[in-house]
Amino acid sequence: MIRPARLRTRDVLRNVLTDIQLSASKLVSPLFVRMGTGIKKEIPTLPGHFQWSPDMLVGHVETLLNCGIQQVLLFGIPEYKDEKGSASYLETGVIQEALKALEPLKNDLVIITDVCFCEYTNHGHCGQLSPCESQGRLDMEATCDMIALQALSHAQAGSQVIAPSGMVDGMVAAIRTKLDQNGFGHIPILSYAVKYASHFYGPFRAAAEGVPKEGDRRSYQCDYRRMHEWQLETDLDVKEGADMLMVKPAGYYLDVIHQIKCRYPEIPLYSYQVSGEYAMIKKAVSAGLIHEKAIEESLIGIFRAGADCVITYFAQEVARRLKQ
Ligand code: PBG
Repeated sequence: MIRPARLRTRDVLRNVLTDIQLSASKLVSPLFVRMGTGIKKEIPTLPGHFQWSPDMLVGHVETLLNCGIQQVLLFGIPEYKDEKGSASYLETGVIQEALKALEPLKNDLVIITDVCFCEYTNHGHCGQLSPCESQGRLDMEATCDMIALQALSHAQAGSQVIAPSGMVDGMVAAIRTKLDQNGFGHIPILSYAVKYASHFYGPFRAAAEGVPKEGDRRSYQCDYRRMHEWQLETDLDVKEGADMLMVKPAGYYLDVIHQIKCRYPEIPLYSYQVSGEYAMIKKAVSAGLIHEKAIEESLIGIFRAGADCVITYFAQEVARRLKQ
């Protein structure tokens, strides 16, 4: 039992201890862009989210800015897919067009672009398949070259942060070298250092139209059963030159977030509350099973664990509530 004197102490302490305050500036909104004009296409698996054509995206990002959101993460749905995902590094590619369209907003905005191949390849894997083993194994060397090309193309089109999400060994170094050689030494890399082969990506894969045709991504994403793999993966990415780190998913990986923050306190840490986490909470709230404050609670948990910024499909909704 807590005695009254102690209770008083706790009240005093309440004023000096830091509470987590949600702030729109620490939330990142993921956005899906597709080629064309005049498109705002609902994503059935992600209620409240849309695929936007670059022209329509601008108005939506203005709305986000008005709510206080300052960071967005772009995913592209290309016009065509091929073996090598070549639509990802066209000057007229979907991300490149979106970046050009958002150019006027860049004073107030940080545009992060996802660099990966799963949306761009016809097999749906995150790079070039190794010729001898088609079961989802990547040719790491060829994939790193492709990733560096895509990253450079994003930087040339105006991306402010390059976020490689493929978990391919060597990708951070390959991107850093390529960017530095081409005058983009100032562009930071936000590496998906620890990305688990998670079952919580389902709604996203439908949204980004990047479901692997065969096999899965376990050969390059982390196995969530392993206790210590996060350490190897983060150390490697930091050594290769990652400026910021990402843990994905978020809610079931709070221990990983916490340990990375302790190991690298000075490196900005992002965490991605992924589509499945969003869908679960969203559905439960709309069914009246849990209170909508559970949304804020889920985010505060991620910040309390040590994340500096959270990528979340709730960004707009929460930012709007914070403003009221
Ligand atoms: C891969 C990628 C994935 C997500 C974002 N980028 C996952 C995957 O299919 O491996 C998932 C994000 C989410 O579920 O919200 N480029």
